[in-house]
Amino acid sequence: MNLASLPKAELHMHIEGSFEPELMFKIAKRNGIQLPYESVDALKACYAFNNLQEFLDIYYQGVNVLQTEEDFYDLAWAYLERAKKDNIVHTEIFFDPQSHTSRGIAFDTVINGLHRAFEDGKKELDISYYIIACFLRHLPEQAGFDIYPDILRHKDKIIGVGLDSSEIGHPPEKYQRLFAQAKKDGFKMVAHAGEEGPAEYIWQAINLLKVDRIDHGNRCLDDQQLVSTIIEKKLALTVCPLSNLKLCVVDQLKNHPIRTMLNQGLKATINSDDPAYFGGYINDNFEQLQQAIGLSNTEIKQLITNSFNASFLNEKVKAKYLAKLNDLGSVNTI
Ligand code: ADE
Ligand code: ZN
Repeated sequence: MNLASLPKAELHMHIEGSFEPELMFKIAKRNGIQLPYESVDALKACYAFNNLQEFLDIYYQGVNVLQTEEDFYDLAWAYLERAKKDNIVHTEIFFDPQSHTSRGIAFDTVINGLHRAFEDGKKELDISYYIIACFLRHLPEQAGFDIYPDILRHKDKIIGVGLDSSEIGHPPEKYQRLFAQAKKDGFKMVAHAGEEGPAEYIWQAINLLKVDRIDHGNRCLDDQQLVSTIIEKKLALTVCPLSNLKLCVVDQLKNHPIRTMLNQGLKATINSDDPAYFGGYINDNFEQLQQAIGLSNTEIKQLITNSFNASFLNEKVKAKYLAKLNDLGSVNTI
């Protein structure tokens, strides 16, 4: 049994970030849209980023070709087929509704396409899932309130809300009223914090937004009291190594802090973030990390165990997946 074939949960993956250039060109053609790139290779050549914002500029351009329910279905289905190859058995995916509604695409078109694909994935690929709607933090909190009724209307399909996009200059405190409302309505809550932004943003995500999980969270290591609080509150971090490398959060994978996180007792998990842009899906993240820092089998097992424990699955289903992992993933056989 090897690492690639172990069952895993993925907890931090933007569905729009799984939009592979080949599919983007296919859908653009179907919709009669001219992409500002001559070819797939020309587009891929632009995937070199110095920071989060440079990536986001390209990412928001990519979503422009998504127009119909079928487009959103195809996007999600492509991810699911790829996830199956990496033995993802449970996934909690993000989508950015405002990046679509701002272009005149109906919220229902987006959520119905995604939901139908994930339902098919559950039946045909045996991958369980939850969908999380993220607010774009570079927009005013009011823009989040404007789209919130749509999220609430689809509460049967959406388990939680998140916060993503440009971090620096947009602290979690900007969104505290909206998150308070989401909590009242029974949504799970997550937020990107401490990817590029300071430890203070993680404090705010915990104390003001009252999140259930922290996306990225790398910068917590700057503040020992924060690390202790995260551990005390049993909050997991959804860490994304290849994303951190491609967005220059770390200079080299061998300097990635994942081992420090585990050694300090943080419940870190491994995720792909925007795999089509960062050069790898979840197994690539594990494998490249394994090569760069020599992750041990015990560490791999811990990271995967954390991914199930940190999911929004109920305890019974978590136990079922963990039993499967333990059967297959005896530490000696990874
Ligand atoms: N949206 C998509 N990927 C993101 C990331 N890594 N950070 C913030 N917002 C995002
Ligand atoms: Zn992300």
